[in-house]
Order: sequence, then C-alpha cells, then structure tokens
Amino acid sequence: MRFDVITLFPELIAPYLQHGVNRRASAAGVEVHFWNPRDFADGAYRRIDDRPFGGGPGMVMLAEPLARCADAIRLARGEEVGPFRSAHAARAPLVFFTPAGAPLRHAMVAEFAQSQQGAILLCGRYEGVDQRFVDAYVDQQISLGDFVLSGGEVAAAAFLDAVLRLQPEVLHAADSHAQDSFNPAISGLLDCPHYTRPEVWRTQPVPEVLLSGDHARIAAWRRQQSLQLSARHRPDLLKRAHEAGALSAAEVK
Ligand code: ADE
Repeated sequence: MRFDVITLFPELIAPYLQHGVNRRASAAGVEVHFWNPRDFADGAYRRIDDRPFGGGPGMVMLAEPLARCADAIRLARGEEVGPFRSAHAARAPLVFFTPAGAPLRHAMVAEFAQSQQGAILLCGRYEGVDQRFVDAYVDQQISLGDFVLSGGEVAAAAFLDAVLRLQPEVLHAADSHAQDSFNPAISGLLDCPHYTRPEVWRTQPVPEVLLSGDHARIAAWRRQQSLQLSARHRPDLLKRAHEAGALSAAEVK
C-alpha cells in the first residue's frame, strides 16, 4: 500500500511516522512518500500562494503547482495522469484535509486500511486552496473535527497513524484493535477503562471484578462501563448503536 503526501512541511509528518507502532508500517509493506508543491512552482521565488480574489485576509494556494504535483504523483504511482477521478476509476483517491470536509470516523479509516490502493493526501495551508483545483482533482474531503488547524499536516499524520495501526503486521497483537473505541466489535461505543499493577495505587484499588478471574463477569463489567462512558461523553454513539440494532434489549431499556 502506498501513500503520497502533498505538503509544504514534510518535516512535520515524517518524524511522527518513525516512532511507536507506525515504525513497523514499512515492514508491513506500507510506503509513504512526501511531495512539496514548491518543487512544481514557477519563477525564482517558486510561489505557491497568492491573495484571494474578492479580498479578505490570508493567502490561497495556487491551483497550478498543486495540479503539476498531483500529476507527477500519478506518474510515479503508475496511474493515469489528469483530473477527474471518475474517468479513472482504478486510481487511488486524492484526499484533501480541510475543516470543510466530512468528519473522520472509524468506518472511513477501516475502509482505507482494507483497500490496497492507498491514497494521495493533500495538506492545505494558508486560508485555503483554489477551489478550481479542489473541483478538478480532489476526490474526498476529510476533517479532523470541528476546529481549525493551521494546516492539514496534523490531520494527515492522524489519518496515517489510524490507517497504519490497522495493518495486520503493525500492532503486536494483530487483533488488539478490535476492542478499541468505535470498533464494530464493541458496537461502535467508547472503550472501557483499563487498570494495571499495583492492585492498590495511592489508596485507589482496582475494581474487584478485574481480579476475579471470572471472564464472563469481567466481560459484562466492561460492557457496562462502555455503555456508561458512551452515555456520558458520546450519546451520539449510543444512539447510532441503538439504531444499528447493536444493543441488546436489556441495554436499550
Ligand atoms: N486543516 C485545517 N483545519 C483542519 C481540520 N479541522 N481537519 C482537517 N484539516 C484541517
């Protein structure tokens, strides 16, 4: 699987991918390449942005260097060059990280992790990207959440981390993510709390049930905790699980 990241600041993303479980991604056959749109810009100053038509603050990224960069990436990937993915169905999607995108959710991450196509990831900077590039080249727009970052790099790093850790060889226990928050195996709810040694830490004991060795009781306690935590912090997840029929009759009451 191959990811190509278009960014003015590859140094913000690359080190993150060299630590922790992400480090094992290359051993798992995942390649990440970085491309700087400045390398595709014209003139001595290699300009990649300009003032917005209609006025207003900030700068807008130019369409042409981004289009040349995207075309060079398609060539390097051995894919057909040019805009409009609909005309080239076999190509990997070009994903633009922007607060105006659809919120990133587990189901999207899981889909990317399973598709062997990878993706081209565009990190915006400044006030935005010329909409004509977005209209012609971008297949999918993804947001990290309802807040504005100074650029898409943190969002791209978060996306890559989430996708890479779902690769079978990346986590030590290949199925350990099945019990993570948002996973279908736990009805898309929040994960339960976790405890480790010592059994008593600064007067706080570990919940007795976790020391009982009774696996059915432990599973029931964990489920209850997931339900309570989701009700408190993410009632939307509980509602979605209910609508999907992922809760038992006793849990719905
Ligand atoms: N770029 C700026 N803000 C962003 C956000 N919330 N998500 C993804 N990319 C962004």
